[in-house]
Amino acid sequence: MTSPQFTPRVFSGIQPSGGLTLGNYLGAIKRFVQMQDEGMETIYCMVDLHAVTVWQNPADLARNTRELAAGFIASGLTPEKSILINQSQVPEHAQLGWVFSCVARMGWMQRMTQFKDKAGKNAQNVSLGLFGYPALMAADILIYHATHVPVGEDQKQHLELTRDIATKFNHDYGVDFFPITEPVIEGAATRVMSLRDGSKKMSKSDPSDASRINMTDDADTIAKKIRKAKTDPDALPSEVEGLADRPEARNLVNIYAALNEQTVEQTLAEVGGQQFGTFKPLLAELAVSRLSPISGEMARLMADPAEIDRILARGAEQAREITAPVLARTYEIMGMVR
Ligand code: TYM
Repeated sequence: MTSPQFTPRVFSGIQPSGGLTLGNYLGAIKRFVQMQDEGMETIYCMVDLHAVTVWQNPADLARNTRELAAGFIASGLTPEKSILINQSQVPEHAQLGWVFSCVARMGWMQRMTQFKDKAGKNAQNVSLGLFGYPALMAADILIYHATHVPVGEDQKQHLELTRDIATKFNHDYGVDFFPITEPVIEGAATRVMSLRDGSKKMSKSDPSDASRINMTDDADTIAKKIRKAKTDPDALPSEVEGLADRPEARNLVNIYAALNEQTVEQTLAEVGGQQFGTFKPLLAELAVSRLSPISGEMARLMADPAEIDRILARGAEQAREITAPVLARTYEIMGMVR
């Protein structure tokens, strides 16, 4: 449980390592906006230091960071209500990341499935940063004493590690300084799957563009990708149990429910019995109506990158009012002479 002395504070981050997908939007950004609008203190971050754990072309990294900021703002995050930052402008993330590299154990890191997936057979030749990544992620969260972290399902193990790091630090130094953060993994679309293969996560790194919907896709492209999405020959069921062995059908229903702010039960009550020939055009229409205003606004914001840079610079100033004292106190607890 989160210790009671910590006031609720939300932190989450997304890598600027390529375009945003519908998975990022439904699994993360949509929840970011809801938590902001519920009046919680919210901090959202473009994690550029995480992105460079694999090679990033410098011009692309800068562009992707600004485009991600534009995606945040176009989706409803506002600098008036949330602190919006890119990680490298708030140096305390990396500084606490080092401390946590000294707290986390090799054995904990070796269990991280995301590292195993990303490194694959190439484990000797990936960067040290990729291996240490989850310690920096724990620092992103705990440098704010954040209590709640909205993410998609794939980040669950990293958040468990964050709790382990906080617990070990508190225990080793005999303090109750870092909160035990709660993951917030909620909604119908915490794991959006590929449109081509219902057993694989929708991802910006999938070589097939048809496997994902990008937030910058135009209406025709979105409709075409949904029309071509892999399905099975049966009609949609009326009950959730009927989706059990039908990963592609379940994925499209989950996407529909999340876009329409419904539960899966409510969606099936509406569309149960329909063939995909009827359901897919409905889903395409819904997706276009929700995503087109966002991509239009992103394009408008991207026309003024200097304004985005000002927002991020201001966010960094606000963030450092929180992070500098937390780092100073961490060093003091550890015995670093100040
Ligand atoms: P990243 O950049 O891979 O993804 C950003 C967010 O989008 C969610 N997501 C999905 N949700 C549902 N279905 C999908 N197919 C899908 N694909 C991505 C992710 O779960 C995530 O919430 N390690 C993080 C970034 C990070 C972070 C943090 C997050 C760094 N520091 C601190 C939270 C707190 C990552 O690589 O996310």
